[in-house]
Amino acid sequence: MNTEDTADLEQAFQIRIDKEEKIEPKDWMPGEYRRNLIRQISQHAHSEVIGMQPEGNWLTRAPTLRRKAVLLAKVQDEGGHGLYLYSSAETLGVSRAEMIEALQSGKAKYASIFNYPTLSWADIGAIGWLVDGAAIVNQISLQRTSYGPYARAMVRICKEESFHQRQGYEIMLSLSRGNQAQREMAQDALNRWWWPSLMMFGPHDADSAHSAKSMRWKIKRETNDDLRQKFVDQSVPQIDVLKLEYPDPELKWNENRGHYDFGELDWDEFYAVIKGDGHCNRERIQHHVKAHEEGEWVRDALKAYDAKKKARHAA
Ligand SMILES: [Fe+2]
Ligand SMILES: [Fe+2]
Repeated sequence: MNTEDTADLEQAFQIRIDKEEKIEPKDWMPGEYRRNLIRQISQHAHSEVIGMQPEGNWLTRAPTLRRKAVLLAKVQDEGGHGLYLYSSAETLGVSRAEMIEALQSGKAKYASIFNYPTLSWADIGAIGWLVDGAAIVNQISLQRTSYGPYARAMVRICKEESFHQRQGYEIMLSLSRGNQAQREMAQDALNRWWWPSLMMFGPHDADSAHSAKSMRWKIKRETNDDLRQKFVDQSVPQIDVLKLEYPDPELKWNENRGHYDFGELDWDEFYAVIKGDGHCNRERIQHHVKAHEEGEWVRDALKAYDAKKKARHAA
C-alpha cells in the first residue's frame, strides 16, 4: 500500500473515532493503534491476574466464614477479568502464549500496586476500598474506549468492581468501629495503601509517554491527573466516615478549585517498583511461573482433545 492510501485510511479512521464509532477486530486500524491497545489491554489483564496474589494470601486466614466466602468470590472475579481481557487482546492478533511469555520475562508490565505486601487483614479492606476503587475510576472511563471488545469487557468488569470496592469498605468500616487495636490496624493499612493507590493512575500527564496519542484515538478517555483527582475527591469523604486520620498532611479541600489538594507522590518509588524493585516483584512472577507450569497438563489435555475432535471430524 502506498503512503497516500495509508493517509486516507488513517483519516477515515480518525473520523470514525471522532464520531464515537467503535472500532471492531476486523476493521482497518493504524499499526500503532493496534500495538498501543495490545500493550494496554495485556497490561490490564496481567494486573488482574497478578492482583489475585496479594489477596489470595489472606484466603486461609479470613476472620469468618462469611469474609472468606466473599474474598474467595472476589479473587475469582479478578481471574475472570484477566480472562475477558486476554480474550479481548487476542482479537488484535496476539496470542495468549505470547502475552504470558512477555509477563513472565518482565517485558510486559502490570499495575505496580500488586508488588506491595499484604501484612494484615486490614490490608484486604484497604485494597478493596482503595485499589479496586481506583481501578473503577479508571475503568468507568474505559467503558467508552474506542475499541469495541475492550469497551464491552469493561462494562461487566465495572459491575463486579463495585462489589469489590464495597466489600473492602465494609471491612474498613467494621475495623474502624472496633477496638483500639482494630482501629490502629485500619489506620496503618490506609497509610500504606493510600500513596500506591494514587500511583495507579500513572505518571503526571506531562511525563506520560503514551498519553497524547491514546487520548486522540480515544483509547484513553481521561488523563492520568484528572482521574487521580477524581479518586482523591471521592475517597476523602470516605476517610471522614471511617473517622481515620488523613494519610497525607497536605490533603485539604480547596474552595477555589472545587477539589481536594494533595501532596506530591514519591516518583522515585513509583519508577523503582515499575522497574522491578518493589517488595514483591520477584515473588509475584515466580509464583505465576510456578502456577503456569503446574497447569501444563491442562493445556496438554485441551490440545489432545482438540486434535482428537479434528481427526474425528476429518474422518
Ligand atoms: Fe478486576
Ligand atoms: Fe476488583
